[in-house]
Amino acid sequence: MVDIKNIVVLGAGLMGNGIAQVAIMTGYNVTMVDVKQEFVDKGMASINKGVNRLEEKGLLKAAEVLGRLKTSLDLASAVKDADMVIEAVVERMDVKKQVCKTTMDNGPSHIIYASNTSTMDITEIGEDCGAPERVSGMHFFNPVPLMRCIEVIRGDKTSDETFQITMDVAKSLPCLRGERYIAPVLKSRPGFIVNRLNAPVGIYGHYIRDLAYEKGIPWEQLDADYAVLKAPMLPCVLSDYVGIDTSYYGALYYVEKLSPDFKPGKVITMMFNEKKLGRKTGQGFYDWSEGRPTPDTSIKAGLVDFDIIAAIRMNEGCRLLEEGVVKSYNVIDEANMAGMNTPGPFERGKDRYKELIKKLEEFVALTGKTYLTPCEMFKTGKFLEMA
Ligand code: 3HC
Repeated sequence: MVDIKNIVVLGAGLMGNGIAQVAIMTGYNVTMVDVKQEFVDKGMASINKGVNRLEEKGLLKAAEVLGRLKTSLDLASAVKDADMVIEAVVERMDVKKQVCKTTMDNGPSHIIYASNTSTMDITEIGEDCGAPERVSGMHFFNPVPLMRCIEVIRGDKTSDETFQITMDVAKSLPCLRGERYIAPVLKSRPGFIVNRLNAPVGIYGHYIRDLAYEKGIPWEQLDADYAVLKAPMLPCVLSDYVGIDTSYYGALYYVEKLSPDFKPGKVITMMFNEKKLGRKTGQGFYDWSEGRPTPDTSIKAGLVDFDIIAAIRMNEGCRLLEEGVVKSYNVIDEANMAGMNTPGPFERGKDRYKELIKKLEEFVALTGKTYLTPCEMFKTGKFLEMA
């Protein structure tokens, strides 16, 4: 088994610098690579800030940890002595395939490539690189140092050794808030576990946001509807935080792979075209120029039906069971809690699933979004045998 010592983190953005930070904290030697010096500098500034904060708390020695970090603008030379690449570049299949091939063409013959994609097929990312058995997925959640979940994904050609090494590296990375939860994803299906579970909620989200826009309802009021859930971030804040472009490209990917019903709604398309991408551009649903917004949630829009959301998530979780992505619904619930700090759908919804199915069928009849039609595993209640 390859002993991983040197890791290249490709991409210095929000995800990439978070991954690089936890990797140097573990003890790996890391080279963080991006295409422009300004991106690298921004990523470095964030890592410096994080590591120095931890030194103030007496948890580590910043100089020692930062001494394990180098940067580069050239992937081909950076991978020469690397054991593993963790890639966090833009969500575009052509780019991911290209950097995967550059890794395999220039790295040592044992190098492993793990893609931190949110949705994309690991098998396809590795198909032209010449060594698909050394390609896997490692899906992190934002912000990486604070969110416990990492999904480790097996592509059709990923070898047992690559999968095991990727699992081991994932387990070794510290989390500043509780213990890491590593979710093995047994088949590379779009969105893996947590994003897939929540992807069709996007169909409902687009419907509701477009409705709010048509009615001239402010985003604060729509977010206020969700305040009752006491989730760590309200949905419009979270969309801004993750990036409107990420949601937009994600939706397009689901259109291609799952159903046209995932088409981005009018509001998200408009924001994408106007480059109102959220935190990264300073403006999204909210103004981020003064830091994370705290919307006034005193007035509710009264548009959101939580039973429909619960039903959509349970239905999608049942699809994951049907497709063999996971073997038990507990993994789905636990991954959701560790990846988004919110409960998964099964534990809460399983005792009233028949009522939820009825709600979902009514929504499908209203909107014609047939992707949301309850699947066999859900309708028959067979999922109850897969705890
Ligand atoms: N290094 C060191 N310390 C850090 C740090 C870093 N990089 N980042 C934050 N900290 C420290 C802060 O200084 C703070 O320390 P203190 O308690 O001593 O002041 C502590 O960690 C907590 O930081 P915050 O105050 O920012 O934390 P909050 O309590 O506000 O919680 C949150 C932040 C955990 C992000 C919470 O809001 C949350 O759970 N939000 C939901 C996030 C979520 O859903 N993420 C998933 C998105 S989907 C995704 O990523 C998938 C992908 O495919 C797109």
